[in-house]
Amino acid sequence: MSISRRAFLATAGSLGLGAGTALLSGCASSSTNVTGPSGTPSSLEVFSWWTEGGEKAALSSLVSEFHVHNPHIDFVNRAVAGGAGTNAKAELARRLQAGNPPDTFQGQAGAMLDDYVDAGQLEDLGFLYQQQGWDRSLNSTLLALTKRGGKHWSVPLDIHHINVIWANKRVCDHAKAPVAPDNVPDFVTALHRVAATGKNPLAISATTAEIWQVKHVMECLLVAELGPTGWPALWQAGGNWDSQQVASALDALRQILALAVNPTAELSWDQASAAVGRGEAAYQIMGDWTEASFTLAGLVPQHDYDWAPAPGTSGTFVFASDCFTLPKGAKDREAAIAWLVECGSQSGQDSFTTVKGAIPPRAVIGSTERGLFDAYSLWSMEQWTGTQIVGSLTHGVVARAAWNSAIDTALVAFVANRDPVRLQTALAAAAKEFAA
Ligand code: GAL
Repeated sequence: MSISRRAFLATAGSLGLGAGTALLSGCASSSTNVTGPSGTPSSLEVFSWWTEGGEKAALSSLVSEFHVHNPHIDFVNRAVAGGAGTNAKAELARRLQAGNPPDTFQGQAGAMLDDYVDAGQLEDLGFLYQQQGWDRSLNSTLLALTKRGGKHWSVPLDIHHINVIWANKRVCDHAKAPVAPDNVPDFVTALHRVAATGKNPLAISATTAEIWQVKHVMECLLVAELGPTGWPALWQAGGNWDSQQVASALDALRQILALAVNPTAELSWDQASAAVGRGEAAYQIMGDWTEASFTLAGLVPQHDYDWAPAPGTSGTFVFASDCFTLPKGAKDREAAIAWLVECGSQSGQDSFTTVKGAIPPRAVIGSTERGLFDAYSLWSMEQWTGTQIVGSLTHGVVARAAWNSAIDTALVAFVANRDPVRLQTALAAAAKEFAA
């Protein structure tokens, strides 16, 4: 059973996020004496980083749907706070190292998952793909990313759109700034216009804990400069990080960050979105989980806020995909398999993506199914089929954890020294060290 996203959020809202709040409190839900498929007590420990705004509501929605099919399995939420999984990934590494895996954990399709596969921490899911027919039902881009060495290692739940700019319409109109700046120079001009009105032009946090927000903006600027061919080439062996185009993108990052008000304040992505929603800031460049938080806040699309491809990236869809895995040594393997079946099913994906601001990762989305989605997600679906698709850096597709963390270190230094030349040198050195 799937309900529309707004209906779910309305229900969740009237219950004060009812079931969701209990489920998302970080401990087991209250039911006891549950039994699993084999008649033994069954509980399912799910590890993710969905603790903020719309992402928390989306997890609740998926859990409700899971319980429709698996009322006997007790859901144990092990979500670790921290946008883009910054803290969760470290905590997961500790647990895997200690031989204490959760029953299933959130991963991201692409290079990020390869780390776990190569470390021998995951079970091959070929049996489930065969049983559920996912080889035929999944979108081919995603299907390719579930595989390594000819085997399937994860089940994709969603497709997120990364290169999106979100704008508060009122603030932009007042500043005579476009809600959808076409290119990076226009964006910089728009930021100046907003600054002249006394509002914060860009909601972003550039602290060490939130450095991924800067990386997210940087990747959009690099895609704007390099386009859908040049961007993926950066992640190949011999990728050219010394080019003038990379230099321009990094200089744009310097200019943009200089215009943001107080970027060294600690602000989660969701708090930054809320600042745009409340009209304290004009823009945010962020993935489409922001749409979910705007919806939860009761904002009206294309009236209170608007969205567009991040400046200069029209025609390119930078994507990420959340997926779930079966770690070797999962204590309740059967319950984990039931969760994976839910994640790979149409009803599971719809229950989650309609609330999350994402789109389902399947090859065919029929017209009835489309009816569940709002204007933003329908736009995103059109973009997915009508643009060039490339993978995200910040959200796990193109670079492994070690490379990502070298880039984080370079960005933390850049936030302190604001020197794009030194940043470029550090990025080029990281590429030399980590490109396969
Ligand atoms: C991404 C993840 C999204 C969303 C976001 C913010 O990495 O793919 O599902 O949760 O982080 O935390």
